[in-house]
Amino acid sequence: MHDQKKSFGVFFIGAGMMGGSMVRSLIRSNAFAPDQIGCCSAKDGTAEKLAAETGISVVDLDSGAQPSTNVLVLACKPQQLAALSQNATRSFNGALLISILAGTPISKIRERFPNARAIVRAMPNTPGSIGAGITGWASDQTLQPNDASAVATVLGSLGEVIPTKESDLDAVTAISGSGPAYLFLFTEALEKAAREFGFDEATALKLARQTMIGAAKLMDESPLHPSELRRQVTSPGGTTQAAVQSFEQGGLHDLVRKATQSAHTRSIELSRL
Ligand SMILES: NC(=O)c1ccc[n+]([C@@H]2O[C@H](COP(=O)([O-])OP(=O)(O)OC[C@H]3O[C@@H](n4cnc5c(N)ncnc54)[C@H](OP(=O)(O)O)[C@@H]3O)[C@@H](O)[C@H]2O)c1
Repeated sequence: MHDQKKSFGVFFIGAGMMGGSMVRSLIRSNAFAPDQIGCCSAKDGTAEKLAAETGISVVDLDSGAQPSTNVLVLACKPQQLAALSQNATRSFNGALLISILAGTPISKIRERFPNARAIVRAMPNTPGSIGAGITGWASDQTLQPNDASAVATVLGSLGEVIPTKESDLDAVTAISGSGPAYLFLFTEALEKAAREFGFDEATALKLARQTMIGAAKLMDESPLHPSELRRQVTSPGGTTQAAVQSFEQGGLHDLVRKATQSAHTRSIELSRL
């Protein structure tokens, strides 16, 4: 449905993977009804597709429409920020702006959205697309209670939320933003090792993948620290201990520290571009 003059509870600039996940989850949790949500996209028709699927409204900001919204979510790609039309960046006077653009500083968002009442910069991760993410966020000012609760609702649609300082968001990126890829990489390595034992491709993948999924679910359901869960499957002199020793002798902890520091450095470099 196209609607040019509406007032929304939440409006999305960008209706792709992350924007779409947030919309679906906000509707599923009854945080907003479809008629309280609006969106726009560029030329690939993602807004129209999302609207057809969920019943939310599409607004063509470039046609001169002037909708209003309480919360504006910026969910395009960082490199698309510069291409947003002036109508898109100046339409929503006084809205609370939540940006999920990786690496784009609040100062740069403020330049493009001078009329936002407050700006929140968030760093989600891909499990957010199934509501199992963790998102660190920071604001350019102390939020009013209503705004803090809007942030908790909107970002909470992706999973857990952690308030932090903007200067810590590069570290959040290095740990939880890039973190899902670390687990996928480890799964790939385990799959390769299984292949070397002679398992066929499908069996190797199943053994590696289900082990990671099962262990993650166990960690989720258990009150125990991961190190304790590890100790429980590591009997002295046993097979797991042999493998863990080999990881430790190979410098796993040091390697993880170096890898996250590389991600941290790169996040800082990218935010300066
Ligand atoms: N994916 C992740 O796990 C993840 C994690 C952390 C942060 N993020 C951040 O999340 C943001 C969105 O990522 P994504 O994976 O959802 O991207 P995506 O699927 O490519 O979606 C981008 C959306 O922005 C729209 N768009 C592009 N140019 C526009 C314009 N000029 N005006 C209005 N809308 C425009 C696109 O429209 P069309 O498709 O119609 O062109 C599309 O709907 C990125 O900034 C990324 O850094 C993502």
